[in-house]
Amino acid sequence: MKAVLGVTGGVSAYKSAELARLMVRKKWQVRTIMSRSAQQFITPLTFKALTSGPVYTSLWDSGFDAGHISLSKWADFIVIAPVTANTVAKIAVGMADTLLTSFVLDFTGPVFLCPAMHTGMWEAAPTEENIKKLKKRGFIIIGPEKGSLACGDSGPGRMSEPEDIIAKITDSFKKISCK
Ligand SMILES: Cc1cc2nc3c(=O)[nH]c(=O)nc-3n(C[C@H](O)[C@H](O)[C@H](O)COP(=O)(O)O)c2cc1C
Repeated sequence: MKAVLGVTGGVSAYKSAELARLMVRKKWQVRTIMSRSAQQFITPLTFKALTSGPVYTSLWDSGFDAGHISLSKWADFIVIAPVTANTVAKIAVGMADTLLTSFVLDFTGPVFLCPAMHTGMWEAAPTEENIKKLKKRGFIIIGPEKGSLACGDSGPGRMSEPEDIIAKITDSFKKISCK
């Protein structure tokens, strides 16, 4: 399986390093796309080392080779973990202002989104509406879980654990192949 791992700018980006490791252990080929904010939390080098694959950080990385289109031809699926409220909103309206959002807009395969954010952001009306819209379009939403958050508050908003994300992705491919 060829997977694109998207990482956006939330504290739980540290968990996506473990997710990358588990994806490689499944023998999936992994290419990573990081948002600019994600790089405030974790470095591209971590994903390069864990996946032995390329890490893209900008639409303009590859000059005239449109990276979002070549990636969308290459990938079997994409998982974005964590996905911020901001990126959820951009995907919901079809924005294409970064490599990650351009790629998602172009890609026709399965997209798994693993939201992580403060409870207030998760329960805000725009986020609820965006998630509803994305589910209706066939995006697969994994989590978030209830529990203690990075800021010390407690409530829904924790990113699902990497093992659970892998299990849900694997399950959904089993369901697709049984249809
Ligand atoms: C310390 C810190 C932690 C943050 N954690 C989150 C988070 O967990 N979830 C979220 O949706 N936004 C979080 N944000 C806000 C995002 O980083 C911000 O909305 C950013 O524009 C997201 O950009 P991106 O979606 O392109 O990665 C956090 C910001 C800061 C400064």
